[in-house]
Amino acid sequence: MTNAQKWIAAFLGFFLFLFILSKLTKQEDDYYDDADHYNDQTAEPVKEVDGFTLINRIGCTKCHGEDLNGSKLAPTLYEAKNNWKRDALINYLRNPQAYSGDERFEEYKRQYKSIMPAYNNIDVKDLGIIADYILSMQK
Ligand code: HEC
Repeated sequence: MTNAQKWIAAFLGFFLFLFILSKLTKQEDDYYDDADHYNDQTAEPVKEVDGFTLINRIGCTKCHGEDLNGSKLAPTLYEAKNNWKRDALINYLRNPQAYSGDERFEEYKRQYKSIMPAYNNIDVKDLGIIADYILSMQK
């Protein structure tokens, strides 16, 4: 082989190498494409956790009752929609003490031994989901 032939062979070899490499990486792409496709058709869509699940998980039911209709420890949450707008309710959940001056809360203080904990460690988005749930509760 002349030098020129060696160069050409090396050159072709190099392209052959690139070609194979591109095939290999292409296969990987296809693999992921397929995986997406597969997920689209069979996997459950990512669901937001619903308000009642959050309320149970956090333990609001321990005081407000399994059905949230009140207990010896805390009032019913079915009246909340008459007393709260969404934003105020979220603020309340984060800092209930800020609302303790209201007449209703003075009465609660006499009536219930426990107090409403401050949930300022919970994601505001989750509190929003909880607030939406409480404001939509119907007996
Ligand atoms: C340790 C018991 C306890 C737990 C747990 C608790 N609460 Fe309360 N909650 C109370 C009490 C008691 C009140 C009445 C106000 C007061 O005395 O602090 C109250 C009041 C409320 C009110 C206002 C009711 C009204 O008439 O305006 C809302 C809304 C509420 N709670 C929602 C929740 C939610 C949502 C959770 C869970 C994230 C929760 N509570 C967890 C005890 C509790």
